[in-house]
Amino acid sequence: MKKVLITRRLLRSNEDKASKLWEAKLNLNDEIYSQQKIIELSKGCDGILSSITDKIDEETINKLSETIKIISNFAVGFGNIDLEAAKKRGITITNTPDVLTDATAEITILLILGAARRASEGIEYAKNSNWKWSADFLIGKQLTGARLGILGMGRIGRAVAKLAKAFGMIIHYHNRSKLSPEVDEGATYHDNIKSLFSVSDILSINCPATKETSNIINKETLEFFPKGAIITNSARGDMIDEEAILDALNRRKIYALGLDVYKGEPNLNPGYLKRKDVFILPHLGSATKETRTAMANLAIDNLDEFFKTGNCKNKVN
Ligand code: DGY
Repeated sequence: MKKVLITRRLLRSNEDKASKLWEAKLNLNDEIYSQQKIIELSKGCDGILSSITDKIDEETINKLSETIKIISNFAVGFGNIDLEAAKKRGITITNTPDVLTDATAEITILLILGAARRASEGIEYAKNSNWKWSADFLIGKQLTGARLGILGMGRIGRAVAKLAKAFGMIIHYHNRSKLSPEVDEGATYHDNIKSLFSVSDILSINCPATKETSNIINKETLEFFPKGAIITNSARGDMIDEEAILDALNRRKIYALGLDVYKGEPNLNPGYLKRKDVFILPHLGSATKETRTAMANLAIDNLDEFFKTGNCKNKVN
C-alpha cells in the first residue's frame, strides 16, 4: 500500500477517501508543519499532499526522502513549491485547476463590490449603531458602465468577465496572448499593461505569481491608472508593492482596494488594517464546501493516477 503524508486537514469525506486508498498520514491537529517536520514526517512516503501554507523550497526538496516521487498541491497556485528543484530531483508536482474557478470568480465580485460600495466602512457604522441615513451617506461607485480591466485572462479571469458583464461592466484584459473570440467574453485585448491600466476604472488581478508578475502593481505602474481607480486581488499577494499602493491610496490616486491575498499571509501590512478604503478578506477565494471538496478530490486523484500509471493530468513541472 502506498504511503502519503497529508500536510493539512482536509474535509472529512476527503480524508476518508485518502485513507481508503493509501496509508495516509493525517495531520489531525491541523498544525502548520515546518520544513524540517515535512522532511521528517514524509520519510518513507511515496508522495505528499501539500497545501499553500507549506513552503517547499529547494533545500526542503533536496532533503526529502528518495521514495517521494510526487507532491500534489491542494491549490491551483503552486508558488509555495520550487518547481525547478523538484524537476531536478525527478519529483512530479501537480495542482488543482478548474474546480475552484467559479468560487474564486465569485469572491472577486465580492471584492469589487466591497471596495466600490465602501463595505468596510459600512460594516463599521452598522455595528456601532452610530449612523443615520442621508442622501450622501457612504456614497460609493456604481459598477454599471464601469470599465473592468482583468490582468490574466485564464480560467478565473474569464469567469470574472462573465459575471462582471451581468453587472453591465465593460471588460478589457491583458494576457500573454490574445484570446479567440469564442472565449474572450467580448472583452477588449491590450497587449501591454500600460494600455490596460489606463482604461481600468477597476482592475482585477487574476494572473499567476511569477517572476514577471512580482510587484507588477508598483509606484510607476500605478500612475497609468485613471484617478480614483479601484484595484482588487484574488490571485496572490506577490503582485502588489504594498508601500506603493498605500501611498497611492493616501494620494487618492487609488480610490479603494479589495484584497483576499497578501504578501506574508496571514500577517497583513499594518497599513491596510488602519484604512477604511481597503476591503479585506482572509484568503477565502476557494472556500466553499463544494469547491474545497472538489479540490481535495482532484489532489487525491492526481496522486492515485500517478501511482497507477506513473503519469497524471495536472502536472505543472
Ligand atoms: C489556490 O488554489 O491557489 C487558492 O488560492 C487556495 O485557496
